[in-house]
Amino acid sequence: MKEIHDFTILERRSYGEHYFSLLLKHDGPMPEVLPGQFVEVLVENEPSVMLRRPISVHDVDSEAGTLTLLIQIVGQGTRRLSTLSVGDRLNLVYPLGHGFTTDLPAGSRALLVGGGAGIAPLLHLSKVLKANGVDCTIILGGRTESLIPVRDAFEPFGRLCVATDDGSLGHKGLVISHPAFAEQYDMIYTCGPTPMMKAVARSAAERGTRCEVSLENMMACGVGACLCCVTNTDQGHRCVCKDGPVFDISTMKTWYAE
Ligand SMILES: Cc1cc2nc3c(=O)[nH]c(=O)nc-3n(C[C@H](O)[C@H](O)[C@H](O)COP(=O)(O)OP(=O)(O)OC[C@H]3O[C@@H](n4cnc5c(N)ncnc54)[C@H](O)[C@@H]3O)c2cc1C
Ligand code: FES
Repeated sequence: MKEIHDFTILERRSYGEHYFSLLLKHDGPMPEVLPGQFVEVLVENEPSVMLRRPISVHDVDSEAGTLTLLIQIVGQGTRRLSTLSVGDRLNLVYPLGHGFTTDLPAGSRALLVGGGAGIAPLLHLSKVLKANGVDCTIILGGRTESLIPVRDAFEPFGRLCVATDDGSLGHKGLVISHPAFAEQYDMIYTCGPTPMMKAVARSAAERGTRCEVSLENMMACGVGACLCCVTNTDQGHRCVCKDGPVFDISTMKTWYAE
């Protein structure tokens, strides 16, 4: 069930010049928010930004009634959000979309591959998988060290691996060239730049490993009304906001083979 609510910013953290996070407190009881679901954020006091901006849920504390968003500054909307301070209010429509599959048997091996802002939904996912007894390997990738924020947050929830294009941190090269990527897993999850996700999906398909991708197509309404977010799937066009953003690659051969 979707809700529209004002949240209060309890904490704002910067991760270099490109990323920041907002810890948001809800005044009443929050609905359950599943890993991979997202919110549509209202950007106020920025006349050039009319539409809400889709942002993944990075972390959830349902007992405390808090959500955390991890945001990369790329344009007017995210820049305006980066100027908000503790005590400011933020209006969200949430929880939106279909999230990741998390009911793997205890003892399963899962690989989580994130690139850029696609790292965001993987923290909540890794927490839930760990609580379910799943053994997680997390590979985070970026062009350089400063573009891989919040690495430490993942450490309690699995084996953390990092890959940078310039070798400034961890393995030098793409995430798919990290030695941990070649190991056998029961499930692979990925979110990040489209070429990265397609490469991960193709490799998973070749290995016969189940895989889910979380697409970040441009969105407007966020609820399946405007059709501006459609993606190609083996069953025709689907709305990323309503039918995704998470898709099983068994239905996405058309997409990852493009
Ligand atoms: C389901 C979903 C979850 C997302 N989760 C996160 C998240 O957790 N953290 C985060 O930082 N970002 C996330 N994004 C991307 C985020 O929505 C965009 O970066 C944001 O809307 C850009 O708004 P803006 O006004 O700052 O930039 P705009 O002025 O709208 O755009 C600036 C530049 O960014 C590009 N851009 C805008 N939206 C996207 C997009 N969706 N994908 C790729 N390029 C885009 C534009 O083409 C343009 O070049 C998510 C997107 C989707 C669809
Ligand atoms: S954003 Fe409008 S249909 Fe998906």
